[in-house]
Amino acid sequence: MDILIVGGGGREHAIARALSKSPKTGKLYCAPGNGGISAIAECFPEVKATDIDGIVALAERLQPDYVFVAPDDPLVMGLVDKLNEKGFKTFGPKANAAIIEGSKAFSKSLMKKYNIPTAAYETFTDEEKAVEYIQKQNSYPTVIKADGLALGKGVIIAKNFDEAKNAVHSMLVDGKFGKSGSEIVIEEFMDGTEVTVLAFTDGKTVKPMVSSMDHKRAYDGDEGLNTGGMGTIAPNPLYTEKIAEESMEKIFKPTIAAMSAEGRPFKGCLYFGLMLTKDGPKVVEYNSRFGDPEAQVVLPLLDTDLVDIMEAIWEEKLDQIDIEWSKSSCACVVMASGGYPEKYETGKEIKGLNSDGQAVAAADSAYVYHAGTKVDGGKYYTAGGRVLGVTAMGGDLKSALAKAYSAVKTISFEKAHYRTDIGHKALGK
Ligand code: AMP
Ligand code: GLY
Repeated sequence: MDILIVGGGGREHAIARALSKSPKTGKLYCAPGNGGISAIAECFPEVKATDIDGIVALAERLQPDYVFVAPDDPLVMGLVDKLNEKGFKTFGPKANAAIIEGSKAFSKSLMKKYNIPTAAYETFTDEEKAVEYIQKQNSYPTVIKADGLALGKGVIIAKNFDEAKNAVHSMLVDGKFGKSGSEIVIEEFMDGTEVTVLAFTDGKTVKPMVSSMDHKRAYDGDEGLNTGGMGTIAPNPLYTEKIAEESMEKIFKPTIAAMSAEGRPFKGCLYFGLMLTKDGPKVVEYNSRFGDPEAQVVLPLLDTDLVDIMEAIWEEKLDQIDIEWSKSSCACVVMASGGYPEKYETGKEIKGLNSDGQAVAAADSAYVYHAGTKVDGGKYYTAGGRVLGVTAMGGDLKSALAKAYSAVKTISFEKAHYRTDIGHKALGK
């Protein structure tokens, strides 16, 4: 089976690697892909993931058996719909279901209508009404969110009235996030620990994957700006069996049923961002795709063939397949360009990688997922904010982390930055 993967980050590298392990996989393509992915798939760097017509044209040329759409933007833009119209089988939701990530106003109203636990909220397009509401609530911190996609930066946690007022003004009046911020959600701040649960679903059945934990802030101790994610661990030890059962009954099953009842059956991977509060698990956000870097720690633990799962979802027979998970733990440490998520330089040579983009000194104990790299004459260069996701498995979380960090120490590039406390919270440190 020939498969075209759409996207070009660490998540897509993890998907490519999982698919490449299947005996059913024939040719593997990736658009645009990146330096590291090119070691296991034929990449098309000139075709961007958001170039909908370009991807469709590429699919028509390559004639893959499946197209696996990994990032949020093309899903929200309707790439899956376009591919299906042309007769291609796909992994990923159609636009009318990807809206669960594409519009927070939509996802919040869905949760309200179907009694799915989440933070209390109101939506606004008018500055005056929004500010009035904040004054009336008079509860801080308060959370201000742009409705649409904003590269993970559209959420402001305001500590006081002034910060909240400024956040509202920046989105509704200054247009900080463009059209994505022309409607905003103001919601209650939830106290607790965050857990990510990715789930396979065919619109009828939902099968959660092993849980994980992202580390979103740039620096140790959860300091600094929000990033796309600086490291992950799986499974998340704070997500107990009891919480998993409660989440399944109160959140996962009702969400899948709600989307189908609304005429928006969700097929693919649904990302549940949960907050474990004193009143039980609540939804922080939904994403219509695998998380990045959650995929890098969850997919290595998948013992079932991902191609079989992809087919079962397409055929809406997910109930007929058993999905097995390894009992090991997995940890991923992101090496980023100095300055990320703000200004950073690219084009720095990465030392310590072999010609396949793997750690020379740790190729047997760790796997290096490439997020933003380019390969030129067998050498790898930085090409993005997040550069590498150095990942290792272990019998327990502690040993997975030790292996990942010892591999990180063998890789270097100018101004490389990584957090040194990935997994500490999960280990109770
Ligand atoms: P989102 O893009 O909605 O996931 O928000 C980004 C991050 O902001 C989340 O991962 C949380 O850390 C934080 N966050 C969002 N909404 C809330 C909330 N209601 N209460 C507390 N933290 C939140
Ligand atoms: N790691 C968070 C996300 O993929 O949205």
